[in-house]
Amino acid sequence: MNKKKRRAVIAGNWKMNMTPEKTTALIGELRELVKGKRGCDIVLCVPAIDIPAAVKAAKGSRIRIGAENVHFEEKGAFTGEISAEMLTSAGVEYVIVGHSERRQYFGETDATVNKRVKAALNAGLKVILCVGEVLEQRDLGITGEVLAMQTKIALHGVPEEQLKNLIIAYEPVWAIGTGRVATPEQADEGNGVVRKTVEELYGKKAAEALTVQYGGSMNEKNAAELLGKVNVDGGLIGGASLVASKFAAIVDAAQ
Ligand code: PGA
Repeated sequence: MNKKKRRAVIAGNWKMNMTPEKTTALIGELRELVKGKRGCDIVLCVPAIDIPAAVKAAKGSRIRIGAENVHFEEKGAFTGEISAEMLTSAGVEYVIVGHSERRQYFGETDATVNKRVKAALNAGLKVILCVGEVLEQRDLGITGEVLAMQTKIALHGVPEEQLKNLIIAYEPVWAIGTGRVATPEQADEGNGVVRKTVEELYGKKAAEALTVQYGGSMNEKNAAELLGKVNVDGGLIGGASLVASKFAAIVDAAQ
């Protein structure tokens, strides 16, 4: 497995944090800190209301802007939802799909994740697809099966030529927001299962080229060790992405 074939991507997931004013301030600070850091792509996935401020503040820098969710229909009577076209026309390039918080709290299923992945890719967005087991599944010894199933359903009907716009983030649910980070070995193993599943679906070449991130309590202290693993090509970072210096330190660790 040759890690050099893959682009490292460090992405922040702000979740329900930050106002447009705070967005402008944080990105203003961050863009100076990551200047010239060409060893990885840098993405910030922000709340919809913060998108215009984020796009403006990141303009001319290496920071790319993402959204945290997207609806699968093109338009219509879906109160509160946001379409892929709305995102692209606002300057958004990436979108998170299937985050465990969407699955846990907002009724997201593998089937709706699949619809969102396809809608976003068809609209030209780059997708960060999240998969991950809950603690009970890990304790039962079915982590591999869960990751394979979530990955297979999410990618059902996705043609190989769209994989260049896909990133998968392995996020063990028990590690998200808990401070209980997976060990580098657990992260590498989970990411490896995801890559193996993609190999089953699309072949070795596609699997080796796919960026697979780890997410779940990654921070400026543990990032280097996690990113050093062969199957860990980047990170999806929640809490530590809300502080410019911490996020920039993770970008440094990916250089
Ligand atoms: P965390 O969140 O870094 O705060 O654990 C990660 C995520 O949910 O993507």
